[in-house]
Amino acid sequence: MENDSAIRELVSACVGQTGAPVTALRKIMATHGHITDEHVGIVADVFNLSRADVRGIVSFYSDFSTTPRGRKHIRICQAEACQAVGCRGLTREVSAALGLGLGETSEDLAVSLEGVYCLGLCASGPSAMVNERIIAHATREDLLQ
Ligand code: FES
Repeated sequence: MENDSAIRELVSACVGQTGAPVTALRKIMATHGHITDEHVGIVADVFNLSRADVRGIVSFYSDFSTTPRGRKHIRICQAEACQAVGCRGLTREVSAALGLGLGETSEDLAVSLEGVYCLGLCASGPSAMVNERIIAHATREDLLQ
């Protein structure tokens, strides 16, 4: 596999840290944009976990993705408090402007759109994130600029 030794080195550098498998997976996300089956196998091997254990971690945290995300990754909260202040309409507008549904990435990997369920800004919705930036009272313009 391409970069197998580089990934193994990246993952091995996390051994001994608190929450090491999660930290290793975060590093893989940061460097590769998504987590492949090969990455899962390396993390399982380095931390003496089963592949199912690692897949469980990957599927539990919404920060992890097994499919490539766009360089600009837009997440819009879809939970109840944000629904009450218009997240569904905002999602429809952004989705139409991008030509992407929730969970989709543009072919050129420029942008991806995802629904999330609570970003901890329930009193300031609709809430969203663009890459690592959290946005309160998000508007179409905030997300598409
Ligand atoms: S419900 Fe949207 S941030 Fe909590």
